[in-house]
Amino acid sequence: MCGIVGYIGPKGAFDILIQGLKRLEYRGYDSAGVAMVDADGKINVHKSRGKVANLERVARAGDTSGSLGIAHTRWATHGEPNDINAHPHVSQSGEIALVHNGTIENYAVLKQALEKHGYTFKSETDTEVLVQLIDYVKHHNQCTLQEAVREALLQVDGAYAIAVVEKGDPDTLIVARKSSPLVIGVGEGETFIASDATPIIGYTDRVIYLKDNEMAIIKRGGDLSIRNVKSSTPTQIDIQQLKLSLAQLEKGGYDTFMLKEIFEQPSTLRDCLRGRITDDCSRVVLAGVEMHKDVFLKAKRITLVACGTSWHAALIGKRLIQDFCRIPVEVEYASEFRYGNPVLDSDDVVIAISQSGETADTLAAIELAKEKGAFVYGVCNVVGASIPRATDSGTYIHVGPEIGVASTKAFTGQVTVLTLLALAIGQLRGVTDKDTVRSVASALREIPDVIEETLKCDPEVKNISRIFTYAHNFLYLGRGYNYPTALEGALKLKEISYIHAEGYPAAEMKHGPIALIDQEMPSVIIAPSDYLYDKIISNVQQVKSRGGAVVAIVSKGNTAMNDIADYCIEIPAVPACLTPLVASIPLQLMAYYIAVNKGKDVDQPRNLAKSVTVE
Ligand code: F6R
Repeated sequence: MCGIVGYIGPKGAFDILIQGLKRLEYRGYDSAGVAMVDADGKINVHKSRGKVANLERVARAGDTSGSLGIAHTRWATHGEPNDINAHPHVSQSGEIALVHNGTIENYAVLKQALEKHGYTFKSETDTEVLVQLIDYVKHHNQCTLQEAVREALLQVDGAYAIAVVEKGDPDTLIVARKSSPLVIGVGEGETFIASDATPIIGYTDRVIYLKDNEMAIIKRGGDLSIRNVKSSTPTQIDIQQLKLSLAQLEKGGYDTFMLKEIFEQPSTLRDCLRGRITDDCSRVVLAGVEMHKDVFLKAKRITLVACGTSWHAALIGKRLIQDFCRIPVEVEYASEFRYGNPVLDSDDVVIAISQSGETADTLAAIELAKEKGAFVYGVCNVVGASIPRATDSGTYIHVGPEIGVASTKAFTGQVTVLTLLALAIGQLRGVTDKDTVRSVASALREIPDVIEETLKCDPEVKNISRIFTYAHNFLYLGRGYNYPTALEGALKLKEISYIHAEGYPAAEMKHGPIALIDQEMPSVIIAPSDYLYDKIISNVQQVKSRGGAVVAIVSKGNTAMNDIADYCIEIPAVPACLTPLVASIPLQLMAYYIAVNKGKDVDQPRNLAKSVTVE
């Protein structure tokens, strides 16, 4: 969480920083700030509670000069969102300004020590402790800022990506990272830094992904050196080419990113599938599996780890892998797995799923799995992020940048890749025969077109959403492959409309939650025509007989539910294992329209951030 951005070059930094913060706002948006060092070496700091637009307004009323600057958009961890806790933080001497993404775990101990040296603190943040520590080291050791940053970082436990500037030096920007992402954009005589590449696109396509424990000293004119924080030795500079376009970061005529992302799923899934199924559909080819055939042949168990929506995709992945590979599969929340003392060895494969590739709990789960000797496979979206770099192998979902905080296209991309993965491992182990691979792979290849067809339910879902906008609670029910779809539908509604919603296995409902059902409690039931259809019909009847309203997601042409449910939304018929991909579309739309009807900010819902880089 939190986004940082920085610039050094010939242009005024302020506009570039504000533009960059707007692109990073999905990472946190409860306060924001900028610091520019002007040509005389004076530091101009502006901060504001709320979104970047507030900051822009406040700052424009003051001095925004300077062609070196750092900026921050915050998702609060230590201290409430207000102007004082907003970054940049400036040291007591007024000489050093710093922005930080991450958490300094030993900040309390450091703070006590600094207080003994006469430092006082204005904010409740861990970040202010770090800037004061750098200030202390610099004065105590009589050293350069660069040395002081390095020395201070050696004393810090936790995660950080930082950018630091100094009064009196308009020519130097210092950045460093450990467990929080940081990208450097290398332009012509100018340099950009950011938490991810999105603020850099449009200026340069040449980037350096700073590695853990590295710091970069960036000079005006473009000179750049990178060294290891621990050893202080210089490290090699690896400039890579960025493959993102500006168009991918814009709303493309939609009111919100979320709606754009829902509607672009046919094309994102085409990108996700491209080149991964042979023309005759007889084989699934995933380079990440092909390169490690021995690992997947000997695997005795697969464990999927993830958080949030990615965890829901993992639950679907479990069924897919069990069905097509007949290997025992477990699914764990990454945050539980990392502290759960898991039993793993070299016969285990751990699959980590993450849209952002930066989720702190998932990263920690990966490190633990690797320590225990397991092979770790990543399913990620953001190319070059920390998780794909930490894993032994993996597959990108290739759905493009997801900017709406509520995950939509990444979820369907994850489920698509997990389907491919299950088929690839199943065919490799000789468990899934050619005919099965052919029939599932050919149906999967049609999924982008099927979703295009499914999206035609938009006006109908919009109408139904009006009826339920003011419900206070919702139940989402599904069975088999669609129990996780129900969980995901409920999560989407909660996140953006702030309506309480619970996902439940439909048959489990009678063991407790059925007590909640009355006229005030609508249920959304995912009931495609699969092997559990008859069973779910009786679950719907149980709801109806207690007076609850029912919205049912049913397969086209199946009219049996028409007389039972209050509203039926039809989706195209697909094989059971692919139904979550299709059924999730009306659920995304329904959450979206209910939130819009309630006047909520769907792209930036309260208290949430896109990339959760803290525990
Ligand atoms: C929900 C949502 C979150 C994320 C979760 C994991 O819409 O977006 O629940 O799925 O924070 O994030 P990633 O996938 O980036 O690891």
